[in-house]
Amino acid sequence: MKERIQELISQIQNLEVNSAEELENLRIKYLSKKGEISALFGEFRNVAPEDKKEIGVCINQLKEQALLKFQQLKEQFDAAKELAEREDLTRTPDPTALGTRHPLSLVKEEIIDIFSRIGFTVEEGPEVEDDRHVFGMLNFAPEHPARDMQDTFFVEKQEGVQSPDDILLRTHTSSVQTRVMTTQQPPIRVLCPGRVYRNEAISARAHCFFHQVEGLYIDKNVSFADLRQTLLYFAKEMFGADTKIRLRPSYFPFTEPSAEMDISCNICGGKGCGFCKQTGWVEILGCGMVDPNVLESCGIDSKQYTGYAFGMGVERITNLKYRVKDLRLFSENDVRFLQQFESC
Ligand code: DAH
Repeated sequence: MKERIQELISQIQNLEVNSAEELENLRIKYLSKKGEISALFGEFRNVAPEDKKEIGVCINQLKEQALLKFQQLKEQFDAAKELAEREDLTRTPDPTALGTRHPLSLVKEEIIDIFSRIGFTVEEGPEVEDDRHVFGMLNFAPEHPARDMQDTFFVEKQEGVQSPDDILLRTHTSSVQTRVMTTQQPPIRVLCPGRVYRNEAISARAHCFFHQVEGLYIDKNVSFADLRQTLLYFAKEMFGADTKIRLRPSYFPFTEPSAEMDISCNICGGKGCGFCKQTGWVEILGCGMVDPNVLESCGIDSKQYTGYAFGMGVERITNLKYRVKDLRLFSENDVRFLQQFESC
């Protein structure tokens, strides 16, 4: 029996295997319940008592060595298999989960697309701006409340006094108007999308940052009728051909006259519902004729040129389009919310 064990040890040590299948067959041959090593354990019963100790040690050695050898061979095959798989460039790739586009990006791009069809191009400006571009050149009086610490996040502010060099986070994208008008001469027809910041408590209806798209058109003989017609075109393209608009007089320091524009409520079709507070109308933007003071402060001759401007909140338009009730959803990155825009 001892010879048989020695022979098996040397057989196993010299094993050469070419495939995983072959390895499995050999494992069955030696190590399975009906294999050679099990058989030896069976025969062990008949070994003479005085030889039992020595033979027992040998059989256990054989079993240990066999287990070790098979483990090593298996590892070799596994590693080779993994390598082969990795190198197979023709293998079908694992499907990669695609992300979805953010609803605010979708709406922003739709707005840009609608206005680009009538000749508007896109201009962007810095989010960290100076007081001059955000307020001063836009005809805000020095004591205007929008400059107040409660609305504006200041980055660098002179103690006590208000200075055109104060650095702040822009509170509206109208600041890009002043950048464009100081660097370009009319005709100017631009759309300025971007993020804006205001020091507000975060709730379902307000956030400390949000997005706006500003529009500006300066040329000879630009009239309020041009503004109205452009905005009507936009409202119909964005919310459907049946959409109506109405302009209500308003006030902005940088436009004169100024207006706020409502569209017929696209949820109840103008009949009156909870969303439009039973009025049939919802406000979507501010607009007006660029104040001559603004043109002059930017170096544009207000006797020769006139222009209109408008500004809208992208979140507001998105709410109307997709009925998102809580503003916070836009910045929480909850994929359950974002995935709903997958096919858009
Ligand atoms: N800047 C204004 C705001 O943030 C929006 C606005 C109103 C922009 C009227 C304009 C405009 O260009 O003409 O509330």
